[in-house]
Amino acid sequence: MIRLLSMFMFFILVFSIGCLSSGEETVVPAVTPTFVPTAVEKSSGTGHGDSHSSGATQSDKSPEEMFAGTICASCHKIEGTGAQGITGPELTNIGTIGASRISGYSAEEYIRESIIEPDAYLVEGYGNLMPAGLKDLLGADYEPIITYLVSLK
Ligand code: HEC
Repeated sequence: MIRLLSMFMFFILVFSIGCLSSGEETVVPAVTPTFVPTAVEKSSGTGHGDSHSSGATQSDKSPEEMFAGTICASCHKIEGTGAQGITGPELTNIGTIGASRISGYSAEEYIRESIIEPDAYLVEGYGNLMPAGLKDLLGADYEPIITYLVSLK
């Protein structure tokens, strides 16, 4: 009889623990308000911050080295330099070839247009693969690159 009673007590115990724990589970966790972080305001500085200073560091390089370091070199080859791209036409003599591409264009005009508006004239045998917007990408290197390419006679 005592054994039966203790078993009964045991069940009561288990039952009440069960109730307790299940009771805990039903507690709905309070919804913690989530704060959407507000975008950090851009500093309303003078705008002089990081003006195109990248070009300045290029000045101690030769035009060949400078060109070889640009995105242009990944597609164009200039004989005897680090520029060894093969996607676009070789630019080894673009100072001469450029003057003969479009009648009435000097090499410089042609090269400038090739960069600013690459699809204005497509070199025969090549697809329209040269991206636009490279002038902006070159920044301070743009004019030195024009001068360099025009000099490649
Ligand atoms: C993704 C590859 C690619 C990149 C990067 C690229 N070009 Fe080109 N480029 C071409 C292709 C392809 C052509 C030929 C098709 C055409 O005329 O647009 C070409 C044509 C040219 C031409 C005319 C060549 C000729 O023989 O008439 C010049 C000049 C030129 N690119 C200069 C540049 C310069 C400078 C840069 C960097 C600012 C540059 N390219 C970046 C692919 C590229």
